[in-house]
Amino acid sequence: MEVDISKIEPGQLIRVKWRGRPVWVLRRTEQSLKDLASLDSQLRDPQSKESVQPQAAQNAARSIKPEYFVALGLCTHLGCVPTFRPEVAPEDLGSAWKGGFFCPCHGSRFDLAGRVYQGVPAPTNLDIPPYRYLSDTRIIIGDDEAKA
Ligand code: FES
Repeated sequence: MEVDISKIEPGQLIRVKWRGRPVWVLRRTEQSLKDLASLDSQLRDPQSKESVQPQAAQNAARSIKPEYFVALGLCTHLGCVPTFRPEVAPEDLGSAWKGGFFCPCHGSRFDLAGRVYQGVPAPTNLDIPPYRYLSDTRIIIGDDEAKA
């Protein structure tokens, strides 16, 4: 499935459906990319060694191009859809929160690379589906760089 990413503003997340499942494409800001580097000690699998992603996205930002984060929008605990919580230090998520995803079902928390925090029920980072770039402004979901 092709997705046009040219109109996504910095900080904006768009939602599409792929094989009946929600897929998110988030355009991260420079600040949020910087913040990712400061979170490793609070995360369960910061290097994504036990998590699901295409090889080209097994890196610090969990993406082929750091600016654009593509993920399955399903909690790895029991499959609820987490909410997008980009704001920094909101009252309900605490002063250390740098933006991320919060699953209201049982309180799992993920950063803006979909990496799961320690001490929550979700066992792994959010899954990243296979995808690749067709051009600077179009991606295809369901197809892998490795097979291109
Ligand atoms: S389904 Fe997300 S925390 Fe349980």
